Amino acid sequence: VSAAPDLAVSAVELRGDVVRVELGDGRAAALHALALRDLCPCDECRQPGSGQRLFETRDVVPGARLASAELEDGALVVEWHDGHRSRFDEQRLREAGGDDVRRPTLWGAELAESLPSFRYGEVVLSRAALRRWLAAIAELGFAVLTGAPTEPGTVAGIAELFGHVRTTNYGRVFDVAVRVDPANLADTALALSLHTDNPYRVPTPTVQLLHCLASSASGGDTVLADGFRAVARLGPDRVATLAATPIRYAYRDEDAELAAEVPVVELDAHGRPVALRVNNRSKGVPTGTPEAVADWYAAYFELLDLLDAPDAGVVFRLEPGDVLVFDNLRVLHGRTAFSAAGARRLQGCYADLDGLLSTLAVLERAG
Ligand code: OGA
Ligand code: ZN
Ligand code: ZN
Repeated sequence: VSAAPDLAVSAVELRGDVVRVELGDGRAAALHALALRDLCPCDECRQPGSGQRLFETRDVVPGARLASAELEDGALVVEWHDGHRSRFDEQRLREAGGDDVRRPTLWGAELAESLPSFRYGEVVLSRAALRRWLAAIAELGFAVLTGAPTEPGTVAGIAELFGHVRTTNYGRVFDVAVRVDPANLADTALALSLHTDNPYRVPTPTVQLLHCLASSASGGDTVLADGFRAVARLGPDRVATLAATPIRYAYRDEDAELAAEVPVVELDAHGRPVALRVNNRSKGVPTGTPEAVADWYAAYFELLDLLDAPDAGVVFRLEPGDVLVFDNLRVLHGRTAFSAAGARRLQGCYADLDGLLSTLAVLERAG
């Protein structure tokens, strides 16, 4: 059986230690013999089922020498000098090149016209609806669920639709409500500028859920902005400054003393942003030469200006039964001030993005 035409390797060429292939989407990839041997998916090299490697890479790969490379039924077939034979389909070659990784869709204020919104009643009953909700969070960094029950504690069950609750010093579930003696500015009626939660915690919680139980106070609107979009618009020198400067974030109350030294922008090995840590309440200051400190503030203010720009953010109101789920390391959140007169109560919890993405991938696998 040959692979579907759009998922087939269409050309193969062997040059020295490198095999060049053309993939289904017309893109070319160059695969080194050492990496190809390491990647062999045959039943001798991988445990069938788990796909886990059976040989130690350093025992087998150093001596790998290519004898031939051919196109066979839309797949790359390689013969090795020791007689071993490897067959790679297009998908495996794409995965090897990292092309199966999800890319975020960056958004700005225009998203206000079509906020990603899903019905609680559908998501709990239908795997397809669950998949669409999680896919929106993966792509945009957030989505709103409407029509959830307003019983306290519900938010933990919503996290468990895709993963596990991450308990912190704020508890398994935390309350956001005006308190007489607040340990956190969140527990006042003050506005909260755009921020990410818990930058003083290692590892920082990646998914945050905020569940609205009551919102009769005037004000208290939710503001969100896409941190990855802001980083994409910042000059490369500014990004490099923010990525290379550790900032100490700290939080303390009666029974917690937390601190972490982290950059405001964290880049992955490709140089793409993977996390922002922005929190005016708990932020320390840069250290270093006078030039370095001044440079850091210039870069930081440019980032904040991009996040606060009128074309950047979406503003909406959480109503009782709404649950906002977002990637705490990508999407910054804040709220407008509200009048202490009416009632406003949210409950929140944290979870992990890798678990959410895993649940989504399994749902997608099922079709
Ligand atoms: C928080 C927070 C948002 C809100 O508690 O960290 O951002 O709308 N709350 O009160
Ligand atoms: Zn093999
Ligand atoms: Zn917050």
